Amino acid sequence: KKRIVSGVQPTGSIHLGNYLGAIKNWIDLQNTYETLFFIVDLHAITLPYDTQQLSKSTRDTAALYLACGVDSSKASVFVQSHVRAHVELMWLLSSTTPIGWLNRMIQFKEKSRKAGDENVGVALLTYPVLMASDILLYQSDFVPVGEDQKQHLELTRELAERVNYLYGGRKWKKLGGRGGALFKVPEPLIPPTGARVMSLTDGLSKVMSKSAPSDQSRINLLDSKDAIANKIKRCKTDSFTSLEFDNPERPECNNLLSVYQLITGKTKQEVVEECKDMNWGTFKTVLTDALIDHLNPIQIRYAEIMSDTTYLDNILAEGATKASSIADVTLNNLYQAMGFLRR
Ligand code: TYM
Repeated sequence: KKRIVSGVQPTGSIHLGNYLGAIKNWIDLQNTYETLFFIVDLHAITLPYDTQQLSKSTRDTAALYLACGVDSSKASVFVQSHVRAHVELMWLLSSTTPIGWLNRMIQFKEKSRKAGDENVGVALLTYPVLMASDILLYQSDFVPVGEDQKQHLELTRELAERVNYLYGGRKWKKLGGRGGALFKVPEPLIPPTGARVMSLTDGLSKVMSKSAPSDQSRINLLDSKDAIANKIKRCKTDSFTSLEFDNPERPECNNLLSVYQLITGKTKQEVVEECKDMNWGTFKTVLTDALIDHLNPIQIRYAEIMSDTTYLDNILAEGATKASSIADVTLNNLYQAMGFLRR
């Protein structure tokens, strides 16, 4: 079976962008592939964070994975920091990562500009190396993510090839390896719709994001019915009369129709037929109802899962054991290929 890995940071609330760009797509994949889904807590400390909140957010995020339909009898669900190999591999990969590759990362440039030099930890720069470790440790074939992670995936591929070239090849074969393939070179799986869910308050230039200052700009998976209704009521629209996809002058319209399409599971054509003659007022009611219908069962399951954290913690423990057994093989092979004395 081909293998798939992906993860979400346990910072802030999980929103519709995380769901439509990533988590929702994991659900189908777990039936066809071997899947590992982690909560990337080590990534969540790259910007100033609240130590009182980290463990709670990590459990919350895990519970949401399950509530959204990740099935622990099919997928391994675990916490990144529970599998030591992630940090260890990161160090080995760091020695092979040109600093220029990291300086080029768009997310690093954006986040460091916002934080100001003195607040930028080294980890913000080396973050993509940890992400590459998350993926390469498991010899992953595919990585389902939203559009914003594409550049990190490209870096991961380049790193895999570089390590295979430097430490793989003939030397590695002599040591009993597969020759040239210490790491599988993974491919991103970016969905055709939903890969870039935009902000509710600026559909042109801002993506929906956990770090946007206004909560009005996003729908969180755990928002109450009232909050959802209120956010949709106040979200940005335009002054055109009917509704349509793909008009570059109408980014908000395209964004909201796409959200509607994805949460109802309808085809684009069906949405066009249904909505083209609606005015904004009517569509906002329809969209609000659809969002509530879709999110309500997730919220109920979430509450159930959170009512018994032993159940959840057992799943995470099992997931970490399974993940470690795969990760340790990759890590050991790399130590050996890089020439370390093994005990
Ligand atoms: P994070 O936590 O920022 O986001 C989690 C996932 O949600 C997607 N996403 C979006 N998709 C569509 N529209 C949006 N507005 C939107 N906002 C976020 C992201 O693309 C992502 O798929 N570095 C990663 C986490 C990570 C990871 C990994 C992912 C660490 N290691 C290994 C895959 C494999 C991140 O910060 O995602």
